[in-house]
Amino acid sequence: MSVAENLQKLFSLEDKVVLFTGAAGGIGSAIAAGMAAAGGKIALCDINQEQLEKVQSEIEAAGGKASCHVMNVMDKESIASCVKEIGEAYGRIDVLVNCAGINKREGFMDVTEETYDRIMAINLKGVFLVTQAVAPYMKEQNGGSIINIGSHNTGSILGGCSVYGATKCGILSFTRSMAVEWAKYNVRANCVSPGHIQTALTVPTWEHPVRSKYLLDRIALNRPGYPEDIVGICILLASDASAYITGAEIRVDGGCIAGGQPWPYDTEF
Ligand SMILES: NC(=O)c1ccc[n+]([C@@H]2O[C@H](COP(=O)([O-])OP(=O)(O)OC[C@H]3O[C@@H](n4cnc5c(N)ncnc54)[C@H](O)[C@@H]3O)[C@@H](O)[C@H]2O)c1
Repeated sequence: MSVAENLQKLFSLEDKVVLFTGAAGGIGSAIAAGMAAAGGKIALCDINQEQLEKVQSEIEAAGGKASCHVMNVMDKESIASCVKEIGEAYGRIDVLVNCAGINKREGFMDVTEETYDRIMAINLKGVFLVTQAVAPYMKEQNGGSIINIGSHNTGSILGGCSVYGATKCGILSFTRSMAVEWAKYNVRANCVSPGHIQTALTVPTWEHPVRSKYLLDRIALNRPGYPEDIVGICILLASDASAYITGAEIRVDGGCIAGGQPWPYDTEF
């Protein structure tokens, strides 16, 4: 077998159906495009229809396969009808990527109950409800891979992220429960935790002289992460190459949690 054939066999997503929430977003759209380029058929789900259609067109223009499904992860009915539509259209769901998420940065004492409920509903309950709707397909097929998008905040909290951080720690705990309970159905679950990623939403932070220096000092690789940096790990976790990886958290953070950049010391390598 040639190297190309071997890699194709290990990592290809050919014929795998991927249900993707938050697919219209900065990170979600990049991962979805990457998974489509690896052969996956991507059911793009998001509340933002206009952006969703743009992502679908880009994937199709590059030769990939994708469909659009407007889904509000806060609404059980919307989730149920979307998952049913996708199940009927494709006949199976092999991979679920839970990527929809929001944040509103404010101090612990300033968070209103309304904001608390909204962040919890989208980031944590949304993962719970979508996964409850999709898992029966995977059980029935005796196979599946669930990829939950966590965050830097599962391991080290940033100021102004109390509720967001709590949801992401909750997602990690959900991941372990899914892995433990569904291993008998050959369903794996893992959490991918991005570090500081530069997207349209975080450009103001990266352009801010004080905040960008603060962040770069804490990233060993001394650069922002980009949405494309998250693609490879998701292809791996969706593919058969990761058949023995479940219940894991994998950080894609340029060495941030590891310790960031050291201050100058006396010896040089
Ligand atoms: N940007 C970062 O630095 C970073 C770092 C770590 C983790 N993350 C996580 O990555 C994921 C994607 O973040 P992003 O930076 O691409 O943000 P983004 O805002 O670009 O994308 C989030 C997507 O979720 C969708 N969404 C929001 N509410 C929804 C709802 N009720 N139902 C369905 N979809 C909804 C939005 O429409 C959007 O397309 C999030 O879970 C986020 O917590 C981001």
